[in-house]
Amino acid sequence: MEYNKDDIKRMLLAEGANKELLFAYAAEEKRKNVGNITYLRGLVEYSNVCAKNCLYCGIRSGNGNVQRYTLDTVSVMDAARFAMAKGYGSIVLQGGEIFTPEHVARIEDILHKIKELSNGELGVTLSLGEQSLDTYRRWFAAGAHRYLLRIESSDRELYNKLHPVNKLHDYDTRIEALNNLRTAGYQLGTGVMIGVPFQTIDNLVDDIEFFRSMDIDMCGMGPYVEHRDTPLYKYKDMLQPTGWRMEMTLKMIAVLRMVLPKVNIAATTALEAIDPEGRTRALKVGANIIMPNITPGIVRDSYKLYEGKPSPGDDLESYGAAINELVERAGDVVGYGKWGDSLYFREKYEQK
Ligand code: 5AD
Ligand code: SF4
Repeated sequence: MEYNKDDIKRMLLAEGANKELLFAYAAEEKRKNVGNITYLRGLVEYSNVCAKNCLYCGIRSGNGNVQRYTLDTVSVMDAARFAMAKGYGSIVLQGGEIFTPEHVARIEDILHKIKELSNGELGVTLSLGEQSLDTYRRWFAAGAHRYLLRIESSDRELYNKLHPVNKLHDYDTRIEALNNLRTAGYQLGTGVMIGVPFQTIDNLVDDIEFFRSMDIDMCGMGPYVEHRDTPLYKYKDMLQPTGWRMEMTLKMIAVLRMVLPKVNIAATTALEAIDPEGRTRALKVGANIIMPNITPGIVRDSYKLYEGKPSPGDDLESYGAAINELVERAGDVVGYGKWGDSLYFREKYEQK
């Protein structure tokens, strides 16, 4: 069914019994299309060094209170080995935006090593920001096949309120990067934050429209969680309460499952930051991806995009069991050992 903007807005404004109906419909769309399987991606927070200065982010370059780190190759390989041993199927390498040739070559080398280590079996998603088409192509050739780059807000004006207005934080460059990722052959993932200052319901409706028009394969959306060392913190008193941000994120997930039933949708960590059951609830209303954090313990606490970010603690074994339980509480089973590629992408590709 084709939903128009009015339908989407009505769904986002649903409360009480209507909201529960939306959630039930979305759960059914999930079951019918991607099934009750949650796929895992081990999240490796590769580096918190970032050239950018996004106004909401705790690891922005202007925040002097951050201990900066970049994982060495051995640590990344250890994490990859751990993910394989646990049957996670794939990993995500995530980090700040760095543009040096050394960085590009280092990621390329790591990708080759991961592919070698796993006989090509471990899937790799990248989340390393805006890069040139050439860089995207090199990393794709080295074995990465999915890429996450959130638009943060599809509204140009709001985008400019969330970022410094300069060449390094340019809305059009962001769009171009998303198009380049598609050109380079990746499964394309984007997403937005929900509950940022100045955001309206109409902005969120437009975000859903944007996902549709960009023909995305994957989506990660999470509540905005303010961080005191960032410029946006001064607007904290105008924010919606965290409970509202939680419910609106769940509604965005449910609506996206209705509008694009075959894409992969993540139950993001930021949901857990404001509600211990946040990710379980997201899986129940349409999400089908979880990214357990497998970053080595010594640096994990330095990757604080927002405050109150949950940490798995040092015992990654019992953390793995907890992830399994949260998936089962949502009525899903874990798709161990599978890449869990976007069904939407697979069907597009098969048609070609
Ligand atoms: N609250 C919630 N999400 C945030 N991110 C960055 N800062 C915050 C914050 N304060 C998200 C952005 C980015 C992703 C890696 O983390 O959406 O794309
Ligand atoms: Fe850097 Fe990403 Fe944070 Fe922006 S959101 S400052 S690009 S890590």
